Amino acid sequence: MTAGEKTGLRVISRTIDGILTIGDNDTSAPWAKGEDRGTMVRPLIVARNLEKEYLMGEVRVYALRGVNFTLYNGELVVILGPSGSGKTTLLNIIGGLDRATRGELYFGEKALHKANDKELTNYRRHEVGFIFQFYNLMPNLTAAENIDLAAQISRKPLDTRELLQEVGLLERRDHFPAQLSGGEQQRVAIARALAKNPRMLLCDEPTGALDLATGIQVLRVLRNFCQQFNKTVVLITHNRGIAPLAHRIVYLRDGLIDKVEINEEPIPPERVTW
Ligand SMILES: Nc1ncnc2c1ncn2[C@@H]1O[C@H](COP(=O)(O)OP(=O)(O)O)[C@@H](O)[C@H]1O
Ligand SMILES: [Mg+2]
Repeated sequence: MTAGEKTGLRVISRTIDGILTIGDNDTSAPWAKGEDRGTMVRPLIVARNLEKEYLMGEVRVYALRGVNFTLYNGELVVILGPSGSGKTTLLNIIGGLDRATRGELYFGEKALHKANDKELTNYRRHEVGFIFQFYNLMPNLTAAENIDLAAQISRKPLDTRELLQEVGLLERRDHFPAQLSGGEQQRVAIARALAKNPRMLLCDEPTGALDLATGIQVLRVLRNFCQQFNKTVVLITHNRGIAPLAHRIVYLRDGLIDKVEINEEPIPPERVTW
C-alpha cells in the first residue's frame, strides 16, 4: 500500500498524486465544476494495477502492464498515446467489454473484476455507452429507429425525440444511415449510446473518420453530455489537437500511464483544431 492510500474504495487517487481525498459527499470531479481541488470526491471508476496479456500462439503480448486509473463524474478525459499503447484495451476493460488478466476494477462499490458474466453484461448494458470510430448503425433502420432500438433494452431510457434535438438531427429523424453524412451518422450513434442514459460514454477514436468541421460537431455533443448532465466522457484519440478540450489528459505508453495532466481551462470544441 502506498502513502495516503486506504483499503477498499476509500482511495486517494494515485494518478493525480494525492490531490484528492476521497469522501462520501460528492462524486464529481472538482476541476470539471471549476471548484477547489481540495473538495472531497468519490470516484466513479477505480482501476488498480490492471494488466492485460494476450496469448498469440506461443507469444505473450502485454497490452497493459499495471495501470492505475480513476474516473470521476462530470469530467471529460482524453486518453492519448501511440498506436499499440493499450488505449483500446483499457477502454474495453473499463467498459466491461473485456476482462483484465490481473488487477482490480471498481464501479462505485461494485468489484467488476469479480463480477460474473451476467453482472458484467448488466453493467455494460445499463451504465456504459460506447462510441467507436465507425458508427455501426443498422442500415435498414432510420435515425430515430436506431435510437429507439437502444432505448428498448434500457431500464431508464431517454426520449428519442429529445436526443435527436440534442444532437441537432431532429429534421433528419426519418433518414436512413446511407442518407446521412459521416458526422451525422456519428451523432446518431452518440444519441443511440445516450438513449439508455448511461453513467459514462466511452469513445474510441470517435472523430477518427471525420474532417475537422464535422468532428467539432461531434465533440460539441460529447462536451454537452458531460456538462449538462454531469456525466463522464472518456475519449481516446491519437489526435493531440483534441486534448485541450479535456479536463484531464492521460498519456499511455507501452501499456502504462506515462503521465496525467489536469487542464485548468478546457477550450470549447469550436477552438479545437487538427
Ligand atoms: N485481441 C488481441 N489479441 C492479441 N493482441 C492484441 C489484441 N488486442 C490488442 N492486442 C495488442 O495489445 C497491444 C495494445 O493494443 P490496443 O489496446 O489496441 O492499443 P491502441 O488502442 O493504443 O492502439 C498491441 O500490441 C496490440 O497488438
Ligand atoms: Mg485503439
